[in-house]
Amino acid sequence: EKGGFDWFMRKEIFEQPKAIADTLLGRYSARGELVLDEIRISPETLRRIDKIVIIGCGTAHYAGMVAKYAIEHWVRIPCEVELASEFRYRDPIVNPQTLCVAISQSGETADTLQAIRHAREQGSHVIAICNTNGSTIPRESDAVIYTHAGPEIGVASTKGFTTQLVACYLLGLYLAQIRGMKYGDEIRDVMDELQQLPAKVQELLDHASTVYELAHQLADQEDYIFLGRHVGYPAALEGALKLKEIAYLHSEGFAAGELKHGPIAIINPDMPVFVIVPPQGRDQLHDKVVSNIQEVRARGARTIVLAEQGDEHVVQFADTVIGLPTVSTLLQPVLAVVPLQLFACEVATALGNDVDQPRNLAKSVTVE
Ligand code: F6R
Repeated sequence: EKGGFDWFMRKEIFEQPKAIADTLLGRYSARGELVLDEIRISPETLRRIDKIVIIGCGTAHYAGMVAKYAIEHWVRIPCEVELASEFRYRDPIVNPQTLCVAISQSGETADTLQAIRHAREQGSHVIAICNTNGSTIPRESDAVIYTHAGPEIGVASTKGFTTQLVACYLLGLYLAQIRGMKYGDEIRDVMDELQQLPAKVQELLDHASTVYELAHQLADQEDYIFLGRHVGYPAALEGALKLKEIAYLHSEGFAAGELKHGPIAIINPDMPVFVIVPPQGRDQLHDKVVSNIQEVRARGARTIVLAEQGDEHVVQFADTVIGLPTVSTLLQPVLAVVPLQLFACEVATALGNDVDQPRNLAKSVTVE
């Protein structure tokens, strides 16, 4: 049942090309339009939405952070992301003009369920992004976009996360399509890029052995830092969460720009610092992150840099470079997270942990 893999988690990491392709399947017409028939909220209603609130826990919350950047860029609707466990206890402002997006792999997370119940009581429309047919959260939502990742058995979410990202991109592009968007061509370009993601993820998986070697070199380390900016920030948080969950190691993700506001003080010589570098582009983001690598390097950190293949600027500051296939910034987390998943899985295996059933964790958290 594990298809020759030692763990369900590892099997599920390797299933990601198919999971992503299946999540895209049938959602793009030959005329170049997005088809999301499952969104049973009328285009008129969606045109009146003036705020989007994205709710989730853990990994799903990180997917929501990426979604905010993408949706605000494409759709120009203000978008908030909130931990489901915080949302309903702080008297949030939600009303019939609010679209609430609840992200949940299992569809049974109690915090998320309570949050959408609260949102609907205030008259807000709720779209679920979910991987489990007929589960409670989709049943209690106005509409659902299913991720077609197939059952996720490993407690640490992997294909659940990358397909949530894909579903969030689809939702963003769909909203842009029906609300008319100034970047009309961009929809088509992004759809083309989405279709290429399975092959690019596969390319990363084909080089898994490099990541495994790194895991064995670092397996005696006890503290890890993950840095990223823009959508690389939630990807860094997700990398740190994977290592906590299954390797039980102290790992923290930070927005790289925040380093100098405090976290840089904890950098010790030899501490492994993973840095996700945005693609080389028009804006200055890439160069800023390269400076952040220099800053931690100057304090003696061991730098593991995830950067676009052929990015010459990072080489001199990196102890290890992990090349990512070329992709636009907003989609990069789908690629960047894959080596981080492989790393966590391999470290946990090397430490002798039960990767699929980590201590203290349950696959779905049905109590608040
Ligand atoms: C991370 C993980 C958890 C879940 C969170 C939400 O690997 O498994 O952080 O992502 O409990 O679960 P769902 O998506 O089922 O609502």
